[in-house]
Amino acid sequence: MLSFTLKVVEIRSETSDTVTVCFKQPGLKKIKYLPGQYLTLIFRINGRKYIRPYSFSSAPGVDPYLEVTIKRVPGGVVSNHVNDFLKVDELVEVIQPMGDFVLNNEMLENNLHIVLWGAGSGITPLISIAKYVLNTNTGNRVTLVYGNKNSESVIFKNKITELENQYPETLDTWHFYTQLKIAENNSEIIEGRISPERILAILKQQVDIQNTVHFICGPTGLKQSVKETLKELSVDDDAIFTEEFETIKNPEDFKDITTRLVEFVKNGVGSKVEVTKGKSLLEAGLDFNLDLDYSCQTGSCTLCKAKILAGSIKTIGIQHMPSSLKDDECLLCCGYPLSDDIKVSVL
Ligand SMILES: Cc1cc2nc3c(=O)[nH]c(=O)nc-3n(C[C@H](O)[C@H](O)[C@H](O)COP(=O)(O)OP(=O)(O)OC[C@H]3O[C@@H](n4cnc5c(N)ncnc54)[C@H](O)[C@@H]3O)c2cc1C
Ligand code: FES
Repeated sequence: MLSFTLKVVEIRSETSDTVTVCFKQPGLKKIKYLPGQYLTLIFRINGRKYIRPYSFSSAPGVDPYLEVTIKRVPGGVVSNHVNDFLKVDELVEVIQPMGDFVLNNEMLENNLHIVLWGAGSGITPLISIAKYVLNTNTGNRVTLVYGNKNSESVIFKNKITELENQYPETLDTWHFYTQLKIAENNSEIIEGRISPERILAILKQQVDIQNTVHFICGPTGLKQSVKETLKELSVDDDAIFTEEFETIKNPEDFKDITTRLVEFVKNGVGSKVEVTKGKSLLEAGLDFNLDLDYSCQTGSCTLCKAKILAGSIKTIGIQHMPSSLKDDECLLCCGYPLSDDIKVSVL
């Protein structure tokens, strides 16, 4: 796992609760990334280390800086730290780009219509993909469907308008506002949520459905609506990509979980950690000040993988374990203690 130290060169306010942080590329070895990938930022706040992934909002080969766009989460440690305290010229440690929510050459070569579905901060990887496709003149059509509360909460509002004006033949955008304040004189602004009926209407009106690829980044409701509608239209699963910013946990899944002691073994040294009910093994280990690797906390990057030496662990919050995981391995970020005497070895 490669890490770098990057200098903040600009911080731009996007909305009242969102900023874009621009980092200068390292002088010698430039950081390469694909549109849709994320950068993992590491901060030390009040004596504790916090690691958080943020999708690139910049596009490779288009934007000179590496950019991430961070929206405040109520009570959130890092998102509020960045919005309130991060300054130009500060140095930030980052982990190499990761993620498979990416545009690939095959999609471009096959001239697929790229359909981007997002809400709120879920726009970040989508704007990276849109900018890349439009600016590199691949000829692919792009449709962006973006849901927000109202026009003030639209992140990249000016950039989206600029792209619409620059690429009227290739880009279509649809804005949805759940709290439409004034009657907007624009047929591409729609009141309400991105519902299955509206998804169907957009797809039927605009898109040659069998020639599309879909990227969805937003809350679970949006993902479900888009996926179900695409299924109805017989769009192949291989043509649908989703990115999770957080996992939604069902309280039912915690019925058989209780507070237990778990032994973490790192570099041959064991530490017994109390994992209180509701906390993942990762959260409990970090609270105990163990130096654990992690990034996404949504079960996809596998940086938090550990070997189960004893006991039983329940995985909560993800539908499928990554295929690279062996039978005796678990993900600490989605792992909860199911038995006594659990012992895990971390890398
Ligand atoms: C692959 C990936 C890419 C991401 N890209 C972006 C991005 O481009 N821009 C961006 O702003 N965020 C992005 N995130 C989310 C980001 O990593 C953090 O989770 C988010 O900033 C909250 O961190 P925090 O330290 O402020 O909150 P924490 O202190 O970790 O959490 C505080 C509370 O907020 C809840 N919470 C955590 N994350 C979210 C969330 N995303 N929405 C609502 N509630 C949440 C937690 O459950 C907790 O209760 C991404 C996440 C992933 C996994
Ligand atoms: S932190 Fe990414 S899989 Fe656990």
